[in-house]
Amino acid sequence: DVIDVRPLTGNGLFTYDPGFVSTAACESKITYIDGANGILLHRGYPIEQLAEKSDYLEVCYLLLNGELPTAEQKEKFVNTISNHTMVHEQLSQFFKGFRRDAHPMAIMCGVVGALSAFYHDSLDINDPHHREVCAYRLIAKMPTLAAMCYKYSIGQPFMYPQNNLSYGENFLRMMFGTPCADYEVNPVLARAMDRIFILHADHEQNASTSTVRLAGSSGANPFACIAAGIAALWGPAHGGANEAVLNMLDEIGDAENIPEFIEKAKDPNDPFRLMGFGHRVYRNFDPRAKVMKKTCDEVLGLLGIENDPQLQIAKQLEQIALEDEYFVKRKLYPNVDFYSGIILKAIGIPTNMFTVIFALSRTIGWISHWNEFHSSPNKIGRPRQLYTGEQQRDYPA
Ligand code: ACO
Repeated sequence: DVIDVRPLTGNGLFTYDPGFVSTAACESKITYIDGANGILLHRGYPIEQLAEKSDYLEVCYLLLNGELPTAEQKEKFVNTISNHTMVHEQLSQFFKGFRRDAHPMAIMCGVVGALSAFYHDSLDINDPHHREVCAYRLIAKMPTLAAMCYKYSIGQPFMYPQNNLSYGENFLRMMFGTPCADYEVNPVLARAMDRIFILHADHEQNASTSTVRLAGSSGANPFACIAAGIAALWGPAHGGANEAVLNMLDEIGDAENIPEFIEKAKDPNDPFRLMGFGHRVYRNFDPRAKVMKKTCDEVLGLLGIENDPQLQIAKQLEQIALEDEYFVKRKLYPNVDFYSGIILKAIGIPTNMFTVIFALSRTIGWISHWNEFHSSPNKIGRPRQLYTGEQQRDYPA
């Protein structure tokens, strides 16, 4: 609640707000969050209703255009996205330049940025049609590129997209299908995948979206901006948390070790934090986590793995943390990433792909913010700093 405003000679005043805890960097009509009451609205629609009644491509349309599509608009949108799912054959050569054991987020930063090398026809950021085409290309190609990362890492051939499948089905088929055998996508898992995409679609000015807006403010092309967003998302304090949750559960290993890890998380001298707990904005509960938890129960029930030992550790950890005074006092609740990792693991997605799936889902949020930025009067983002270094001094004689 304290804003430190300091005079700056010749330049009026500026505020000092480390971590942008209280500073709005822009106006936006896309997403509203009320952290105290656990409310998240996209273009006015509650996230719970979108997760229940909508599907990911419809949410993409909504975020990008401001309104839900009519049936005709939706059909056209879905067809357009389907027409852009392939990637240029030469892009597949890029993968060969990476080590097979490279982290897929490292590969994504590279190949998504490289898309700008293929689409010179649509890089005029001042042309609304160009911006629209770039958005379509990105939404359509992210699942293809994400699945290619996985296939490359396990030495299997890339799978081409199959455009009569839904967005989630197509992704699962490109991940787990092979050219030698038909792959039947389980509709419950495809729906769970779609929910994960919806729940990660946008979250106003988080670190990666702010990065995309800031990069975009210089006039950089959208593929470069999204690559910057992917890089910012990768960190464990942000999108990397879903991967970190599973690694943490592995490290805990056995339920009897939970108290030791809780104590570590509470120790002010230990940098360890419970991954998947806490949120900068939600100080009550994360509404996405509630939906995710329900989906998690459905998926695990369907697969008959409710007794998975890692899941049992997760449930006990959640229970202990929810009752522990340290977590209660600081309003640290499980966030969306606590459950998404458990679902993704159950679906068979390797841990190092979790943040890639977050990036795939968040691409629509990033590109919607980038488009909103360029659709209204704007200026380059240029934060100030509070200089705490040496005063002017003379170079030694
Ligand atoms: N485990 C233990 N203690 C925690 C945790 C945690 N996960 N998160 C916050 N705290 C403590 C801090 O140590 C601090 O304690 P103090 O007041 O005694 O110093 C207090 O809670 C407030 O924490 P801040 O770091 O000030 O909160 P901030 O808003 O800056 O950080 C963040 C939010 C980064 C999400 C943090 O809670 C965290 O690191 N969580 C774990 C990583 C995670 O799950 N990230 C995913 C975020 S959601 C997303 O990106 C989709």
